[in-house]
Amino acid sequence: MNPTEQLHPPAPVAPPPASPEPWKQDEVALLTMLEEIERKHGYIPHQIGDEIARLLEVKMERLKRIQGKLEGGVRRDVQAHVARWKDEEGNLIMILHAIQNQYGYVPREVAMELSRELGVRLARIYEVITFYHYFKLQPPGKHNVTVCNGTACYLKDAAGLLNELRSQLGVGEGQTTADREFHVEVVRCIGCCGMSPAVVCDGKTHGRVKPTEIAGFIAGIRAAAAAKEAKP
Ligand code: FES
Repeated sequence: MNPTEQLHPPAPVAPPPASPEPWKQDEVALLTMLEEIERKHGYIPHQIGDEIARLLEVKMERLKRIQGKLEGGVRRDVQAHVARWKDEEGNLIMILHAIQNQYGYVPREVAMELSRELGVRLARIYEVITFYHYFKLQPPGKHNVTVCNGTACYLKDAAGLLNELRSQLGVGEGQTTADREFHVEVVRCIGCCGMSPAVVCDGKTHGRVKPTEIAGFIAGIRAAAAAKEAKP
């Protein structure tokens, strides 16, 4: 808890009324309407039941069409990558690189499609993905904070920096904040051992970093992002 919160505890506020997710609002409205009809007539007339069934069928059809389009997109992407690399040695890694470059990570449905297209077991694909640090299984955050944990940085308390990041952002090594704003990464030596411990924030390297500076880095990234968004 930060000191300001201790001095000025927030006044208790009633939790906001639970609001259904947007896609559930139709469902809630429909159920409310049915309850209303049942209260009024004591039953639900079959014409109304039939009409609702028809509307649900139309919705299901639409949903299937959208899913089909998405799957078609993934299939086309994977087929293009496989066609590009299929005759090269070590093609699985090259294809995974291409997929990660495209999506920023390797989505599960893409890995499944790749397994089908290449005829390689899905477990084998995941063995490769998890063996190499480079590949990500989750969508990346907008902003990357990389902590070096090579020998020189390790000896200068890189762990303290990671702890501070965890307390500031609520995530640790290899994790992304729930709002997908920040991703925390740990690497082994970035070639600046003379400035250890080192942290790279969105491509900018900071040396001899103290845990107390971490909050400032995060605030700086947020301010820069806000300024960028505010630009016309
Ligand atoms: S060990 Fe951290 S920069 Fe080399």
